[in-house]
Amino acid sequence: MSQIELEPVKGTRDFYPEDLRFRTWLFGHMRAVARSLGYEEYDACVLEHADLYIRKAGDEITRQLYDFKDKGDRHLTLRPELTPSLARMVMAKGAALALPVRWFAIPQCFRYEETQRGRKREHFQWNMDAVGIASVAAEAELMSAQAELCRRIGLKLDPGAEPEVIWRVSNRQVLGHFLAGMGIDGELFAAVCVLIDKRGKISDAELTAELGKIAVDADKAARILALLDVRGLDQLATQVPADNPGLVALRELLELAASLGIDHLIRIDLSVIRGLSYYTGTVWEVFAQAGTFRRAIAGGGRYDRLCEQLGGTPIPMVGFGFGDIPIREVLEELGRLPQLPRGLDDVVYPMGAKQFAVANRIAAHLRAQGRTVAVDYSLRRFKHVVQRAEDDGAERLFILGGDEVAKGVCKVRRLGAERVEVETPLAEYGIPRI
Ligand code: HAM
Repeated sequence: MSQIELEPVKGTRDFYPEDLRFRTWLFGHMRAVARSLGYEEYDACVLEHADLYIRKAGDEITRQLYDFKDKGDRHLTLRPELTPSLARMVMAKGAALALPVRWFAIPQCFRYEETQRGRKREHFQWNMDAVGIASVAAEAELMSAQAELCRRIGLKLDPGAEPEVIWRVSNRQVLGHFLAGMGIDGELFAAVCVLIDKRGKISDAELTAELGKIAVDADKAARILALLDVRGLDQLATQVPADNPGLVALRELLELAASLGIDHLIRIDLSVIRGLSYYTGTVWEVFAQAGTFRRAIAGGGRYDRLCEQLGGTPIPMVGFGFGDIPIREVLEELGRLPQLPRGLDDVVYPMGAKQFAVANRIAAHLRAQGRTVAVDYSLRRFKHVVQRAEDDGAERLFILGGDEVAKGVCKVRRLGAERVEVETPLAEYGIPRI
């Protein structure tokens, strides 16, 4: 038989223990931050109804589905994101769900996209979403959670210096009201958003041509593109009426952000659109400013009409997704990946098979005290056992030869630089004289 393929499926990852240590560390911080803001953890199955992601506006995600028909002829997909599942779960509970709710999750998601730095076909994504809060206070709270995570994992965001991460924020209602004045709304507006999100990846000329295909003429396209160049509230205020709901919401957001100590991190930037058609209000992306990874490391937005689009009643919803891959790129480049030990405290080394039983008892006694203990059954030579125990970061090695057991003792060696060794009675580990 020819050998099996040893590489994981293209664009997916294997997690060896040293890789999983980082993931567990990162998820631990994500969970701690979300819980500290009163968010509760939830989850759904990685298999979802494909219909949830099939949107008319031309979202890229629709083309990236890992979808298939199951044996019952159902059209299913591996989820590319969690937000539609959240909407489905909220709709399924209906009036039984006392709003508002604040939920978080760390789902694994699958998208059939071109792999490149920071992007694979499988990733985990920390999601925090607030359901039933119409105020931009929810957006400010969510951004503060992202900032807190960045701080906890070692990025520098303090005022006074150039922050290593910034929040680029816009509001689709700015563009929405501007375009409504040109007769562009509803499905056409969503389709325009999906297209102009490609700006930068394709040229303005190509973009204008694409817009032409969905009945937005070159003059309108030029005015749209000019609006995308707006930066900062002051400049925005010169471009749209003072009562534009997007402008009003951005102003309020900045005020609330100040009360959470994150206003210095926010950049109003009309070029931020986001590629998902369901967003209706605030949209934002988190960008690393330090190093060479200059893509979004997280993104979010308000999507007050997703439940309605899925056949229910509209419910105010807002949240974000924060991937595990881009942030690792950033930390690695900045030399901030944490040193995470394997977490082994003690190794017990029976020198012969006859000492296995006593070794097991010592290990059980130590584990009952909360120590993490491995028994080395390899019967390899002493120096190899010491080396391996030290490589694994153990503090102590318990050595059990036939002579020691006969004397009712074991040797306990401190590993590392000291290597001090003492004899300890087995009785100390709850083992009576044999
Ligand atoms: P998204 O911008 O498509 O939004 O993804 C959010 C984040 O997930 C990205 O910023 C990135 O960190 C990570 N991500 C997405 N695709 C990949 C990939 N192929 N490889 C690595 N990382 C990736 C959403 O998914 C929305 N559902 C977020 C949301 C939640 N909006 C409201 N609530």
